[in-house]
Amino acid sequence: MKKLSIFVAKGGTGKTTTAVNLGAGLAERGKRVVLVDADPQGCISSYFNIEPTGGLAELLLGEQIKLVRLRNNFVVMTSGGTRLWDVSGKLSQLSDRYRQVGKAFVRLRDCDYIIFDCAPSFDVLTYNVLNYADNVLIPISMDYLSALSAVDTVNAIRNFKGSGNCSVLGILPTFYDKRTRMSRIILRMIKDHFGKLVTETIIRTNTQINEAPSSGSTIFEHAPYSYGAADYLNLVDEMETRL
Ligand SMILES: Nc1ncnc2c1ncn2[C@@H]1O[C@H](COP(=O)(O)OP(=O)(O)OP(=O)(O)O)[C@@H](O)[C@H]1O
Ligand SMILES: [Mg+2]
Repeated sequence: MKKLSIFVAKGGTGKTTTAVNLGAGLAERGKRVVLVDADPQGCISSYFNIEPTGGLAELLLGEQIKLVRLRNNFVVMTSGGTRLWDVSGKLSQLSDRYRQVGKAFVRLRDCDYIIFDCAPSFDVLTYNVLNYADNVLIPISMDYLSALSAVDTVNAIRNFKGSGNCSVLGILPTFYDKRTRMSRIILRMIKDHFGKLVTETIIRTNTQINEAPSSGSTIFEHAPYSYGAADYLNLVDEMETRL
């Protein structure tokens, strides 16, 4: 079972989009995927238009949970909605505050991949996920502040003294537009800084990716011949090799 978190401490860089489409792509290849919404914003529920209750918040509280089967091999654990904020607050008061997700997931066995969609902040919940996951994929959009945030995020992950062993699997460039100078400059900058950590896959800015959540579809369902679908298929290939 491979445990992957999708995280960067910067909002709006394509984390949820990547978690959804990477999860869906792996599931289409016959891998059993559990997608966990670890963000109290509950964007995975919004994406697929499902009730956020009975999810991660409830699991952490020891209550009944309800995994939602989205597609073949593709199951979602919702966030539990805004309850997850309160649960996060409670976790901070515990002495082993960073091990609660690990403890709660101990019985989850029947899957090939667990993918966590994290909130864009270094809070106790994110540290829990990083503590439990083996790897983190860092999507960064092609702007200066995102690039700086990627540097801070990688440093913070490496300095995190949790009991786990989460490594940075890759830095994924998102919202790339070859027509803009900024995209080219930022891509160059992150390749110079991070070297081989930058994925071969580049996710281009694509209208169909932006449209897909409005119909609760993955990019492969919404626009299978779009370059958004092609880019996410490349990511699935690359992650199968890297993971
Ligand atoms: N490659 C892309 N091309 C066009 N639009 C995109 C692309 N990737 C994501 N989007 C859109 O950009 C918005 C932000 O994406 P997303 O929600 O995945 O970011 P996020 O990093 O999860 O944000 P947050 O930090 O708030 O959780 C969404 O409306 C999404 O549909
Ligand atoms: Mg998100």
